[in-house]
Amino acid sequence: MSYQDQLEQEGRIWGEAFRQLARETPPEWAFYRERLEYLYTHRPSIDALLASVKPGMCALELGCGSGWLTLALAQAGADALGLDISKQALDVGRAYYERIRERVSGRLRYEVADLNVVELPAATYDLIVIKGTLHHLPEAPHVIAQVKRALKRGGRLWIHDSQGDEHPRSVLLASALMFLLPTHVSYADKLRGLWRFRQNPTERIRMSMQAEGLSPFEGIGRHHDWLALVQDAFPTATVERGLSITGYLAHQIRLPRALAVPTLWLISRVDALLTRLGVLHSTGITVSASLE
Ligand SMILES: C[S@@+](CC[C@H](N)C(=O)[O-])C[C@H]1O[C@@H](n2cnc3c(N)ncnc32)[C@H](O)[C@@H]1O
Repeated sequence: MSYQDQLEQEGRIWGEAFRQLARETPPEWAFYRERLEYLYTHRPSIDALLASVKPGMCALELGCGSGWLTLALAQAGADALGLDISKQALDVGRAYYERIRERVSGRLRYEVADLNVVELPAATYDLIVIKGTLHHLPEAPHVIAQVKRALKRGGRLWIHDSQGDEHPRSVLLASALMFLLPTHVSYADKLRGLWRFRQNPTERIRMSMQAEGLSPFEGIGRHHDWLALVQDAFPTATVERGLSITGYLAHQIRLPRALAVPTLWLISRVDALLTRLGVLHSTGITVSASLE
């Protein structure tokens, strides 16, 4: 498949994913932050990021999908631009913005762009955010060089993404909990799967933990150690490792919310302890860096 065809497929896949998600949850952080997969994982760092935004700041999001985070930056008063390859996903964001624009104090724009070849204007942005996108980009070195060029002096880069492969112990514990907890797979199918795959259910979970959908670029950014690239470009970058398995289980668990929330809370506490002790290893990291 040619690169152009892959980009078109990427656009369609994420457009469909964000259209479906918008049927359940409006593409706005006030609603997203209540979703199980954000509650104990991304929520604290995204809330802290948004609290740091000042009215009038010039902000850019790379790979914004339906634009919920770009919208949140604009709601915090920023002059915000979201770039993504998926016109379909951006249309979800644009349609939603039309409905709520009176509630948005800042300025908001979405544009289609291929980040692998994008040329950003020099010294323009106070804040650049990239969430869940770097691992889809074969040209991560180009993107990071562009980010460095586009930040104003003193400007901030914020990245949240997965980095590296899932650790065997994290996979093992996630597999065991997936087996025990109700998920979208019935217990009968889980037992059948255990028999069919014998020793391999953990391998299947590992692959599923590392994949998000059917993107043709899924994991392609793993060819580069994006964290090392960022640390080279921004030597004072701070790195925060998140939880190891809670996010994955939050996606899979099928329980009424009143039960799912305390169950995930308990898992998140155990996860935090085992991650701190080095028993589990997190692949989800948040990087914050300033241009000196
Ligand atoms: C995992 S989604 C993350 C979306 C959003 N940041 C979020 O957290 O909901 C990855 C996004 O990267 C976008 N993307 C992938 N390759 C891209 C490229 N070459 N240029 C621009 N966007 C790209 C996809 O369209 C998709 O919206």
